[in-house]
Amino acid sequence: MIVVVALLLSLLTQAIVAQDTSLAKVKEAFDVVNIPKDIALPFDPSFLLEVSLPQTTGSAIVLRAGVQLPRNATVGPPSFTLVGHDIGHGPFVVATVDPDAPTPQNPNISEVRHFLGGNFVSERLFAGQATLTNTTAAVSDWLQPTPPTGSDAHRYIFLVFRQPQGFNDQVLVDATTPRTLFNISEFGAAVGLRNPIAGTFMLVAPDPA
Ligand SMILES: *[C@@H]1O[C@H](CO)[C@@H](O)[C@H](O)[C@H]1NC(C)=O
Ligand SMILES: *[C@@H]1O[C@H](CO)[C@@H](O)[C@H](O)[C@H]1NC(C)=O
Ligand SMILES: *[C@@H]1O[C@H](CO)[C@@H](O)[C@H](O)[C@H]1NC(C)=O
Ligand SMILES: *[C@@H]1O[C@H](CO)[C@@H](O)[C@H](O)[C@H]1NC(C)=O
Repeated sequence: MIVVVALLLSLLTQAIVAQDTSLAKVKEAFDVVNIPKDIALPFDPSFLLEVSLPQTTGSAIVLRAGVQLPRNATVGPPSFTLVGHDIGHGPFVVATVDPDAPTPQNPNISEVRHFLGGNFVSERLFAGQATLTNTTAAVSDWLQPTPPTGSDAHRYIFLVFRQPQGFNDQVLVDATTPRTLFNISEFGAAVGLRNPIAGTFMLVAPDPA
């Protein structure tokens, strides 16, 4: 009886707390699927990142690190919230990369840059929570995941960085730069991004045939 009640309580809690509440768990989720090594960036977040994907019916989906979503739930564009203390006003850079293109087994066109935008500023929602609002157009607008038929699910990794001085003058990437063969680690080193302060990721598989 006690075991059943405990199980029910734990299921209930999981159902209610869909998004992440623990930095350690997000970090662990990154480590388990080898993201820091695969994108050549240390991941030791200071804040939780809530990525919301709007849905045509019903409320937006807020990612939990590592959640798998059907492709048709990822039309976007995503919006971003940081959770934690002393977030600061920004500005921030947000990037989304796929290190698994065209397939996780042979990712030879990776990374694919699904989003890159600077000049996000934080607007305090309430204590310890701030929405990020872009104050300029993105460098690369949101590109919906499209893993090719036959591929395993890809990892789509969202990262937030503190924006370095001069970011708006970078000339490495603009709207015409190919999305493929991007390298967030090299790009970051070149423009002075340092390590991400927050992140999360989702898995998306090809549409069912
Ligand atoms: C996505 O596709 C599934 C299966 O075809 C369907 O049940 C669901 O309603 C679709 N969702 C959206 C957001 O279109
Ligand atoms: C990636 O690998 C595939 C399969 O080996 C090959 O056909 C393709 O030419 C490679 N593409 C690039 C950009 O290296
Ligand atoms: C913020 O991003 C959206 C989506 O790309 C864009 O439509 C909008 O113009 C941007 N806002 C500003 C102030 O540039
Ligand atoms: C990206 O650049 C880093 C640093 O140069 C390198 O270690 C890593 O292998 C590169 N990743 C890819 C996918 O080429």
